[in-house]
Amino acid sequence: MTSYKTEIGSDINKAADLLMSGELVAIPTETVYGLAGNAFSATVIKKIFEVKNRPFTNPLIVHIASVDKLSSIVKQVPDIALRLLHAFSPGPLTLILPKKEMIPDFVTAHSSQVAVRIPNHRLCLELLNRLPFPLAAPSANKFTSISPTNPDHVMNQLSGDIPYILDGGFCNNGIESTIVGFENDTMLVYRLGAITTEQLQEIHPNTRLVNDNRVIHSPGMMKYHYAPKTPLLLTENVAGTIQSFGTKKIAVLYFKQPAVESAAAYKQVLSINGSFQEAAANLYKALYELDKQKPDIIIAERLPDIGLGQSINDRLKRATSK
Ligand code: TXA
Ligand code: MG
Repeated sequence: MTSYKTEIGSDINKAADLLMSGELVAIPTETVYGLAGNAFSATVIKKIFEVKNRPFTNPLIVHIASVDKLSSIVKQVPDIALRLLHAFSPGPLTLILPKKEMIPDFVTAHSSQVAVRIPNHRLCLELLNRLPFPLAAPSANKFTSISPTNPDHVMNQLSGDIPYILDGGFCNNGIESTIVGFENDTMLVYRLGAITTEQLQEIHPNTRLVNDNRVIHSPGMMKYHYAPKTPLLLTENVAGTIQSFGTKKIAVLYFKQPAVESAAAYKQVLSINGSFQEAAANLYKALYELDKQKPDIIIAERLPDIGLGQSINDRLKRATSK
């Protein structure tokens, strides 16, 4: 593979030129940074998988600038999908829809369906609008590692692998998009994410969470995803768990400010006042910071299992599976 002197910058022309010439560029979105390339080029898509060390069986999300671009990549859009787009686009919603030929099989891991989303990020939309092709982009981390929510985290993981990281600041939402598919009149949630199941159900009550113990439709539902290098334990009882680990070098990831300060060596509070939104935005950065200290264990506080709390718990659960 080519070795690059990776740069961070906000030069949108440079990003566009690189993408036009078949290079990969890390792009900002409202959820996490993406590792982007021309979605119509099989060669470019192959490069994305190689840089990420991602198995070719794990398909990619295609990013477009607006709803009118949908018809160039998907065959049909069911009514429920249109209603969802109306409610949440641009935004952290990914739809699984029947793909057109234009989309190489590499993108979808040979599935006849493609994952599509319209990111809600000014710079990203501006970039998409300049390009004659959509951008396929997985999160800009190595396979199974923590997703990056700022340019420095991308640099830590992909330095030397890509020429450019387009700096769009810190990602507002901080966890990945919610992935939704359709089966007759049922809306299937393949991955919990920045749009909550409650929000989806307001648009279409007949919604089912695809249970990853039975089927793995979406490898984002795999265990071992989103994981720090340190073993992580998810618990309701942080104080008790700290005690049970005794003298080990412990790091704690609190949801909100604890009533009693713990004696843990390192800690991060996701949101002092217990806001789900703030907690989601800080999640991956906090995990990065704790992981960097190389503790023996990270003890993470479970959030209430509603709204975004459910999506954050989902990511923490997957981080524990090793
Ligand atoms: O917020 C996000 O969705 C971010 C930003 C960069 O857009 N992207 C992201 O991509 O999280 P990635 O590759 O890390 O996760 C995409 C998930 C994977 O779990 C993949 O399996 C699933 O989407 N996926 C993609 N295409 C699919 C398809 N045709 N059918 C089912 N699942 C699919
Ligand atoms: Mg990912």
